Amino acid sequence: MSAGAHQGRVVAITGSGQGIGRVLAQRFAREGAHVIVSDINPDACAQTAAELDTLGVSADVTKAEDCAALVAQAVTRFGRLDVMVCNAGIMQLKPLLELDGADWDRMLSVNVKGCFLSLQAAARQMLQQEPLATGRPRGKIITMASIAGRPGAGPIASVIPHYRASKAAVISLTQSAAMTFAPHLTVNAICPGLVESDMWRRMDADWAALQGMAQGEIWSQRIAGIPMGRPQSPEDIADLAGYLASPASDYMTGQSINIDGGLMMN
Ligand SMILES: NC(=O)c1ccc[n+]([C@@H]2O[C@H](COP(=O)([O-])OP(=O)(O)OC[C@H]3O[C@@H](n4cnc5c(N)ncnc54)[C@H](O)[C@@H]3O)[C@@H](O)[C@H]2O)c1
Repeated sequence: MSAGAHQGRVVAITGSGQGIGRVLAQRFAREGAHVIVSDINPDACAQTAAELDTLGVSADVTKAEDCAALVAQAVTRFGRLDVMVCNAGIMQLKPLLELDGADWDRMLSVNVKGCFLSLQAAARQMLQQEPLATGRPRGKIITMASIAGRPGAGPIASVIPHYRASKAAVISLTQSAAMTFAPHLTVNAICPGLVESDMWRRMDADWAALQGMAQGEIWSQRIAGIPMGRPQSPEDIADLAGYLASPASDYMTGQSINIDGGLMMN
């Protein structure tokens, strides 16, 4: 998108202190949006917000009051909330038989409840504001799922069962929200593939240790299987998020879009 593509839009992004969320915040800011940076990590949140010279709100998405405060601060500062990106998420690599209830609860709490609470807080605000323009929705919500939430299982399914379940739930929640809020809001999910990120670096190290392989070996094998011939960059995701935040996607809702270099073709 061009420099002014999101001029004046108010865009909040959860989990944007680092990783994909941070790159999304940088891109939306570069393209003219008023960005609200938010993260459970107050230092990362403050640092990214300072870098972008914008509002930073430290918030834990598993807490309804934090999500409400995030939206309230966005509205106090910028007057409305046009786009919410429910991006915050965690990953843990652990074989199914070793997982315990606490692992399960933590994963679903952040990835599913956190997505729900941030989405709900955004929707409550968006539904009471004026449309973005005559005939347009009142706001746009983007959730961050994953190709891991799609049906069908490769070897990795055995070591991230709770992550896979959480992302399948995000896809389902996206559809429920899209149905609930149409025609006033659009709600769509992004399903990234293998993003060169801290999350994947941690996962590669843990998985390699589990398999007795050298660090980086699993990553190289996975990359070799990507039809488009390269790992994904957070910028690829920013391209899709930009589209889902723009008027060009106003007729699209309830969709979960794979952006993964062709790893999943469904
Ligand atoms: N990295 C990948 O390959 C990949 C692939 C598919 C989907 N995703 C999804 O993309 C999203 C971002 O992933 P990433 O790679 O940038 O991960 P990351 O670990 O680099 O960043 C996640 C951010 O979320 C924050 N966070 C964690 N728990 C939180 C909470 N309770 N409340 C608020 N913030 C919280 C973290 O502090 C961190 O800044 C996640 O939802 C992830 O599941 C990532």
